[in-house]
Amino acid sequence: MCQDFSALIPRSMLLTMSGKLRNFNIQGDSNSMKRFIIALFVVGLMSSMALAAEDGAAIYKAKCAMCHGPDGAGKSGPALKGQSAAAVTAVLNNGGKKAPHTKGMAALTADQIKAVSDYVATLK
Ligand code: HEC
Repeated sequence: MCQDFSALIPRSMLLTMSGKLRNFNIQGDSNSMKRFIIALFVVGLMSSMALAAEDGAAIYKAKCAMCHGPDGAGKSGPALKGQSAAAVTAVLNNGGKKAPHTKGMAALTADQIKAVSDYVATLK
């Protein structure tokens, strides 16, 4: 049973899964249930790989455009056109001169900071 998957998924993981299924007392065809859970697991792996490439434009729109303008021309915050990626990264990591960048933007991961900095550097 499940031999076709044993090369992909460690046997201990399958045993854990089937143990969990028993604990939750799910009735029915446990073999197809296992296949279903394995399929979910594989789909989850693939989508987390797809998300690994951060979308700088989307991050800018969601977290920067309301203050720096949709095209970087400035609004309540200064224009960002012409900023180098390194300068933007420095502000996001270490903070700018005054609020709201008095400290680094902790809500952004290093990958997101790199993506949004590269994006800002493309604004002309
Ligand atoms: C709540 C409004 C606001 C948000 C959101 C915001 N900023 Fe700012 N930003 C400002 C203000 C105001 C300044 C000017 C003060 C300063 O330099 O610290 C500034 C300054 C900067 C500077 C320095 C500009 C210069 O000329 O020295 C950079 C770079 C920058 N922001 C990038 C970003 C990026 C990238 C994001 C999104 C991840 C972002 N900011 C989000 C308001 C904001």
